[in-house]
Amino acid sequence: MHNLDALKSEILASFEAAVDIPALEAARVAALGKKGRLTALMKGLGELGPEERKATGQALNRIKGELTDALDARRNALAGSVLDARLTSEMIDVTLPIRPETEGRVHPISQVLDEMAAIFGDMGFTVIEGPDIEDDFHNFTALNIPPEHPARQMHDTFYFPEREDGSRLLLRTHTSPVQIRTMKAGGPPYRIVAPGRTYRCDYDITHTPMFHQIEGLVVDEHTHMGHLKGCLIDFAKTFFELPDLPVRFRPSYFPFTEPSAEMDIGCERKDGVLFIGKGADWMEILGCGMVNPRVLEMAGVDPKRYQGFAFGLGVERSAMLKYGIPDLRTFYDADARWLSHYGFSAGDVPSLVGGLTQ
Ligand code: DAH
Repeated sequence: MHNLDALKSEILASFEAAVDIPALEAARVAALGKKGRLTALMKGLGELGPEERKATGQALNRIKGELTDALDARRNALAGSVLDARLTSEMIDVTLPIRPETEGRVHPISQVLDEMAAIFGDMGFTVIEGPDIEDDFHNFTALNIPPEHPARQMHDTFYFPEREDGSRLLLRTHTSPVQIRTMKAGGPPYRIVAPGRTYRCDYDITHTPMFHQIEGLVVDEHTHMGHLKGCLIDFAKTFFELPDLPVRFRPSYFPFTEPSAEMDIGCERKDGVLFIGKGADWMEILGCGMVNPRVLEMAGVDPKRYQGFAFGLGVERSAMLKYGIPDLRTFYDADARWLSHYGFSAGDVPSLVGGLTQ
């Protein structure tokens, strides 16, 4: 019996001495495994006389039970300390200062294009796109600007090198060629807007060689000048979020519209600051007109049956007016500080469903 107590103490001590789960498992095998010390004693019971076998057997079973309990307790303790160690080593210090914000900003041009598409979308327009690289026919001729027309000089066109047949591709000088592509792609009616990049060889406070326009085209059997005015007035009031915005249409000239007009919005300049929506001044925001029958004809649409209007709007100018951005050139400086000031959060496109006047 004395021997058994000593053995029990030794085994218990080996469990306590185990510093981690694998060490404890080794101690368990040494005591209770197939070739363990306690197992060996149990195997030897058969060699004892009946009396002794009974007493020793009971003692061994009791010790085995105690050792198993001690083993479980030690295993739980070690597992707990493993967890504690992980919690300590992987602790997150919530008092640390946050990392600098790295979220990007939406460029004002993207924002304004989204706003415009949302407004025209509500009016039933479809948004389509055309290529930046155009040919002479779509950019000029089909828009009633023949080769010697003075409007060609005004456009300061970027041309590509001459091709074998003597023709030259060009960077589109306006989004109007999308009108032609739309009409040639299928029959009327049309009710589209075409936003995109446009290019002219020009650079000063109010011009960059690349800029954006949004083109509009509505053609069916009934659309008249009254529709043109209603549509563009509603657009301007909704876009500038000014239900009482003063607007006026001034007669103008574009080869691809007849009659042609420019639309101005009311504004006031005071101490070098521009206020829109009130005052005695006017500011031009877009060109428009009834589609010239010759343009319809060149695009394969019967001008005796179909008519409609078109418009072209400068996106940078509109963004500057709406969001108070003073210098056009800063749009393309790629300055992150400028963008964090003038940019928008993703998903910030306002819901303009139904416009402002409802
Ligand atoms: N394409 C013209 C420009 O770049 C703008 C324009 C004027 C477009 C009148 C139109 C229009 O569709 O009807 O200056």
